[in-house]
Amino acid sequence: MTSAARPSPSSTAPAAPSTPSSPSSVGGVSPHDRATAEPDPDATRLVVTRLRAAGCVFAEDEARILLESANDRDALEALLRRRESGEPLERIVGWAEFAGLRVGITAGVFVPRRRTEYLVRRTLTELRHRGVDSPVIVDLCCGSGAVGLALGTALPRARIIAADLDPVAVACARLNLAAVGGATYCGDLYAALPDELRGRVDTLAVNAPYVPSDEVRLMPPEARDYEPLATLDGGEDGLALHARVAAGAAEWLAPGGSLLIETSERQAEGTAALVAAGGLAAVIHRSRRRSATVVSGRLARS
Ligand SMILES: C[S@@+](CC[C@H](N)C(=O)[O-])C[C@H]1O[C@@H](n2cnc3c(N)ncnc32)[C@H](O)[C@@H]1O
Repeated sequence: MTSAARPSPSSTAPAAPSTPSSPSSVGGVSPHDRATAEPDPDATRLVVTRLRAAGCVFAEDEARILLESANDRDALEALLRRRESGEPLERIVGWAEFAGLRVGITAGVFVPRRRTEYLVRRTLTELRHRGVDSPVIVDLCCGSGAVGLALGTALPRARIIAADLDPVAVACARLNLAAVGGATYCGDLYAALPDELRGRVDTLAVNAPYVPSDEVRLMPPEARDYEPLATLDGGEDGLALHARVAAGAAEWLAPGGSLLIETSERQAEGTAALVAAGGLAAVIHRSRRRSATVVSGRLARS
């Protein structure tokens, strides 16, 4: 993840301010047209107006999601007030859109960013090139398990294992990964993994914290105020976790296996140097469209 604005379930990246503003209440209108069950146009207009006034960049998309989520006007008003106060949309509605999937999000769990879809895409491309039929994939620092879920959905024969330090994240990932038969573990990086995986992992797909400690305070309030520090803070230079992930990868990868790790453009050379120091052949991949950077590191076959 990076310090850019968060994505929303609607595939956009709103950054709402924390100052509430309520030009008018939705109390007088119903969220849905009774006859068609479609969102009521008057309610939609009011919600969009209020979201815009609160600084939501993608007010129409967010309005649609809030209207879908509310059964009646009191519920809609309550959801809207939470959003106006700066609470992330994903936390309010309990899910985030990621790689075309709905990923469940519980309070205190990092909301997957749309840029991380590039990590998924690179991993799929890499596995396709290697021709691995039933890969063993570890989603390390899994948070909600979004990366593992996307990979397991795209590769039904894959074995998905996900691990995180935070038990709240692991519980959330467990729910999400049930759909792909994924296993979840709690603990510090590789220490969480079962021993039998040593030397057997085809792909380590990692989005670990990489914001330099001093820059966490510059992040949007939605991240700073609602996501635990341990999900964001990558240490003094942002690369503390990358150094540990890279140093341990060779021990867990199968011959010819790969580590793929999300980083930022600014930190890419540093991440790549750490991956190379871990004994892997490092390559930097960039997606301008997604403003995303991934470093891959391949373990030699023998
Ligand atoms: C930036 S979030 C990414 C979550 C998920 N991979 C995603 O892309 O949505 C980083 C995650 O790393 C976890 N984490 C931080 N330090 C860790 C450690 N030492 N071992 C395992 N997980 C850790 C955090 O709890 C958090 O869920």
